[in-house]
Amino acid sequence: MLVSLKPLLSHAMIHKYAVGSFNVANFEMMEVVIQTAVSLKSPVIVSTSSAEARYLGPKVAVAMAKSLAKKHNAQIVLHLDHGDSFEMAMQCIRAGYTSVMFDGSHHPLDENIRITQEVVRAAHAVGVSVEGEVGRIQGVEDDLTVSEQDASMSDVGEATRFVKETAVDALAVAIGNAHGFYLKEPKLDMVRLQEIQQSTQKPIVLHGGTGIPEDQVQQAIKLGIAKMNVASRVRRAFMTAVYDELKVNPQTTEVRDVMKPGRLAMANEIESSMKMMNSIGQL
Ligand code: G3H
Ligand code: ZN
Repeated sequence: MLVSLKPLLSHAMIHKYAVGSFNVANFEMMEVVIQTAVSLKSPVIVSTSSAEARYLGPKVAVAMAKSLAKKHNAQIVLHLDHGDSFEMAMQCIRAGYTSVMFDGSHHPLDENIRITQEVVRAAHAVGVSVEGEVGRIQGVEDDLTVSEQDASMSDVGEATRFVKETAVDALAVAIGNAHGFYLKEPKLDMVRLQEIQQSTQKPIVLHGGTGIPEDQVQQAIKLGIAKMNVASRVRRAFMTAVYDELKVNPQTTEVRDVMKPGRLAMANEIESSMKMMNSIGQL
């Protein structure tokens, strides 16, 4: 069954862990995320970025998520990650997503607040949770590239105003995290994180989960991170394993055989991410 984000994040805040949000682009990826979470008794968020949602089709993503949740007897959140417009968020809500992010971080704050308010109003009317973002996270996600110069840390005052005026259920922040593989070890601004959490009193979301050292993840959880997004390391593991299999067995015509090592590699990355987030055994 598909559930909304809010109760999961409240539980995570109380019990000091983060719920992993893993991006999926196809059936195999979605099933592995769900299967791994069930086998480790971990809560989980299955995410599609706007591009992944368009690729699958929101209705297909919902149908797949519902039937896989039923097959594996799981309660999962189906979340739109980095929703790129009001329209995209509405399409996903209408299709049956239980949570959406509207990423208006590239807009001036007033405009970000205005559109996020509209998304929240429509989403909350039908019991769907909303994540917003303040500050700009560096790196590449979907068709969006944010350069080092354009990236900006979340401002405590702006975050406080944003949460107050939009009533989002969770807030994504830029505190030294970035999308994709880090070129040098990140150093999260823990003081900023603590100030934002204390002044907003909301579950905080850490994007760019690939490559953040475990000790920093652990400390960030203590300071209010309740959701962590992980994509690149899982995607890379899946594709590398499929590629290696094809190198060993180039004549194969069997798709299932090629997917198998991809699935295993993904499951390992998800398990190690969940370990880092302390979410194993929280169900
Ligand atoms: O929204 C998705 C992410 O923030 C994932 O970031 O690819 O660096 O793990 P990542
Ligand atoms: Zn992200």
